[in-house]
Amino acid sequence: MTIPPAHALLHWYDRHSRTLPWRLPDRQTGDGAGTHAPDPYRVWLSEIMLQQTTVKAVIPYYEKFLALFPTVQALAAADREQVLAAWAGLGYYSRARNLHACAQAVAARGGFPTTVAGLQALPGIGAYTAAAVAAIAFGVPVVPVDGNVERVTARLFNMADPLPAARRTLATLAAGLNADPQARARPSAFAQALFDLGASLCSPRQPACGLCPWHANCAAHAAGTAASLPRKAPK
Ligand code: ADE
Repeated sequence: MTIPPAHALLHWYDRHSRTLPWRLPDRQTGDGAGTHAPDPYRVWLSEIMLQQTTVKAVIPYYEKFLALFPTVQALAAADREQVLAAWAGLGYYSRARNLHACAQAVAARGGFPTTVAGLQALPGIGAYTAAAVAAIAFGVPVVPVDGNVERVTARLFNMADPLPAARRTLATLAAGLNADPQARARPSAFAQALFDLGASLCSPRQPACGLCPWHANCAAHAAGTAASLPRKAPK
């Protein structure tokens, strides 16, 4: 099976990417070229919040956390009760407890690890979040696989096996999407382009295949099965 061309997705992303607070340039690289690198703290904070919560619901909490705790050191030094109070309303409170523990571990070691394995060893960081932070904050060429990326992948390869059994196969197929050197050249944009494609055109119910930068490469589109994928095993 061939993989779709990264340049088509990246070109689409460059024109249509969502403006989200954690995507704004926020740290001068100091390379004299006036370029910006993402702040790993902000990337990590947004990814933890986005784990089980929609973008729309996350934005005000993300802004509030940055105002209260502008750095990972500030978050580490805060009282646990203060962190839990700021989290109130977002749900899944183990995330807030892990968030605080992770901030303390990162502050103690003097910064975030820059590899997937190093990140995954921290509290509250699983395979998805480690890959997302590595790709977005540190430019590691990995594909983070969330529900959106799973759906895009199931459709690209017209994978009819139902979830959750298909999850491992989909993860392997998704990991291969960045075999294209143009994807590997822009890991942060490629990861976020996949999120945005899944959140917009490649939506669960009525995918807008006619507008999709990958429709010519999509096996489900060719077969007319896109809207029915991924399948879910009956409970
Ligand atoms: N969902 C998870 N991570 C995201 C990100 N960085 N941008 C948009 N949606 C996301």
